[in-house]
Amino acid sequence: METADRSDAPAIADDLAPAGPVVVVLDGPAGTGKSTVSREIAARLGLSFLDTGAMYRAMTYWLLENGVDVEDADAVAVASGKPVVRSGTDAAGPTITVDGVDVSGPIRGPEVTAAVSAVSAVPEVRTRMVELQRGSAAAAPVGIVAEGRDLGTVVFPRADLKVYLTASAEIRATRRAAQLGVTDAAGITAILLDIERRDAADSGRATSPLAKAADAVEVDTGEMTPEQVVDRIIALVHGRVAVPVDRSRRS
Ligand code: DC
Repeated sequence: METADRSDAPAIADDLAPAGPVVVVLDGPAGTGKSTVSREIAARLGLSFLDTGAMYRAMTYWLLENGVDVEDADAVAVASGKPVVRSGTDAAGPTITVDGVDVSGPIRGPEVTAAVSAVSAVPEVRTRMVELQRGSAAAAPVGIVAEGRDLGTVVFPRADLKVYLTASAEIRATRRAAQLGVTDAAGITAILLDIERRDAADSGRATSPLAKAADAVEVDTGEMTPEQVVDRIIALVHGRVAVPVDRSRRS
């Protein structure tokens, strides 16, 4: 692999020098701010960024568009081999396409959000996504910050740093409401119920993807700003591994 220009890298002990692409993973339930925080960390450390939830959403979008019954696991398993899901991992402008079409907007819609848990429970879907996720990490010029549910446990068990983000369902609902511009009590309650439903769907089954790896560092983001979470995790990264291009001190 091509070596990155290390001219402006901080001096780092040899035992922290990475052997291959640096892999930092953030897992946790919906609404903990994983995406925003992971992308910012990647940008500041000069690493690639991968939103694995977007990949499951893209698969779900394609299945819905193509009339596949997402509650029929066998039908999903058969169809899941067909779409070409591609993630562009530039932290400055990540992209997600299916069969070459940009789906970054529609994958955030309510139809996909309602169906994605069922789709992501299908083992054939997971196998395919895990393969793509490992491919993205292997292709990253320097390394990758990836966020999802099972990255520390299944996808990247040897990651350089594993972080597990938490926050109460109420706090996560309030944050999501603010993002969506929802201010009325009924709207916030609906978001809370949706988050609780997704928590249960993501963690309450035998094939549950959401799990904290034994060697993950847990960060409760409840009382923290996104900036504080970013700083905390960047400090953890520096403690574990050399990042060849370190922009964190310049911003
Ligand atoms: O993070 P998100 O809300 O965009 O994730 C969408 C869905 O994808 C979520 O319901 C759980 C699933 N998912 C998964 O099963 N495994 C991952 N690594 C990431 C997301």
